[in-house]
Amino acid sequence: MIVCHCQNITDQDIHSAIDWMRAADPDTLITPGKIYRALGKTADCGGCVPLFLGTMRQNPSLEVPMHLRNLRGATQENRNARR
Ligand code: FES
Repeated sequence: MIVCHCQNITDQDIHSAIDWMRAADPDTLITPGKIYRALGKTADCGGCVPLFLGTMRQNPSLEVPMHLRNLRGATQENRNARR
């Protein structure tokens, strides 16, 4: 299924890019911009963003690495501990 009509990106392209990025770097945060770059393309109109994100969320490799979760909360806890 074509997700991005401007750049002719399919759901399989997105899943392949996510799987490739996760295999190359298990700690990377995967964003739509990184997927576009990995595919050698750039976003144009942005109309595909909701479907693009929905497709990304279907991929089990998209998960944020455990040690990178709740960084904002951890930062807030550090501030509170210093007071
Ligand atoms: S449909 Fe994806 S950038 Fe236009």
